[in-house]
Amino acid sequence: MSNELYFTIALSWIGIAVVTFVYLFKQKAPYGRHSNERWGPMIDNRWGWFIMEVFVLVILAYFLWDAKKQLTVVSGIMVGLFVFHYFNRSIIFPLRLKTNGKKMPVIIMVSAMFFNTMNGFFMGYYFGNFASYTIDWFLDSRFIIGMMVFFTGMAINWHSDALLINLRKPGETGYKIPQGGLFKWVSCPNLLGEVIEWVGFGILTWSLPGVVFAIWTFANVVPRAISHHKWYQEKFVDYPKDRKAILPYLW
Ligand SMILES: NC(=O)c1ccc[n+]([C@@H]2O[C@H](COP(=O)([O-])OP(=O)(O)OC[C@H]3O[C@@H](n4cnc5c(N)ncnc54)[C@H](OP(=O)(O)O)[C@@H]3O)[C@@H](O)[C@H]2O)c1
Repeated sequence: MSNELYFTIALSWIGIAVVTFVYLFKQKAPYGRHSNERWGPMIDNRWGWFIMEVFVLVILAYFLWDAKKQLTVVSGIMVGLFVFHYFNRSIIFPLRLKTNGKKMPVIIMVSAMFFNTMNGFFMGYYFGNFASYTIDWFLDSRFIIGMMVFFTGMAINWHSDALLINLRKPGETGYKIPQGGLFKWVSCPNLLGEVIEWVGFGILTWSLPGVVFAIWTFANVVPRAISHHKWYQEKFVDYPKDRKAILPYLW
């Protein structure tokens, strides 16, 4: 595939992210607290998470295997960061969830698999065919700043997900007002952390697939944070008044 074709597909994919961003304000993605049976067949929540998220690793592996270039030390570390994130998201995260008996619509799982096919393709094809980082990239300010941003985002995401998961005692499936960490300022610090993490990845790779993925993450999680925030305000009369949805003091 030529550079131009890859670039054209990426631009079209960004266009679809913008449409999705607008659509998700009208239609909440029906999983987690917004899950319901109007969306057809359902699958166990944990299995749904595992299948849809592990898919990106399968597609990534395929495009790296079917590649013209070998990974260098630098691009290998970048791919390693991506795999590290998705190892947690597809295996550790579903195992830790306390969502016994909960289900998600199969259509959500399938649409996430499509999203992950595109992500796996963009990452795998780029790192396997276009990326040409030399060892001095380790000393480039974009790599250093990007790494700091990436790990800050990951720490916020993991810590906030852990606080949420630990709100439930074994066997519970209801919802409580989250406290601690960045919950002091926002309703969805896990989603904020996810955006920060992928912005960091975009900076540290200084690449088109990095930017595309950061835009898609923003498009997916910001509407979700806003719908979670409204849901909390409607459900809990004592919900903290000064807490924002995703951006402290602002949004
Ligand atoms: N890169 C992307 O495009 C993208 C898109 C979406 C999500 N993600 C990531 O995937 C992870 C999960 O996302 P999510 O939207 O499902 O997060 P979420 O709605 O905040 O839920 C996370 C987990 O915590 C539980 N939980 C949430 N709030 C709770 C409360 N108040 N009381 C008790 N339990 C609570 C949820 O249970 P229930 O399932 O029962 O609600 C779920 O198991 C996050 O780390 C997010 O960043 C990434």
